[in-house]
Amino acid sequence: MSRRVAPVALLAGALLLAGCGSGDDSAADLSVSGAYMPQPVSDSMAAGFLTVTNSGGTEDELTSVTSDIGEVTAHETVDSAMREAKDLKVPAHGTLVFRSGANHLMFEKLKRKPRQGEKVTVQLHFAESGTVTVEIPVKSATYSPKTGH
Ligand code: CU
Repeated sequence: MSRRVAPVALLAGALLLAGCGSGDDSAADLSVSGAYMPQPVSDSMAAGFLTVTNSGGTEDELTSVTSDIGEVTAHETVDSAMREAKDLKVPAHGTLVFRSGANHLMFEKLKRKPRQGEKVTVQLHFAESGTVTVEIPVKSATYSPKTGH
């Protein structure tokens, strides 16, 4: 029985190595995880958080964000003051993280107030990968993710 297992394990290892080697020259390959929006206190403004992961070998750049719910811009927090962030990079084999107290998606001039349990749809526009649509679930006003930051 155990003799049959060994060749399979070797084959799997070889495929894994091949996948790694070709990854370095590959195009940007983005995925979005951990998206959430705390239910806003304000009627006109809200913040959204998510992580963009690039599993490809080419850097990408977030050029703009749009939503049908209002105006959206990417903000960064510098010395506890926030300002608009232009062209945020998603490094090859890296992440672009929006989290409480740091980078965030800033929603302004909201047409309606997002409520807990709803989803807010945004389009993330990237220089290399084009548009990625994300459904952001609205959580309680005090929600913060258990893992990470
Ligand atoms: Cu902001």
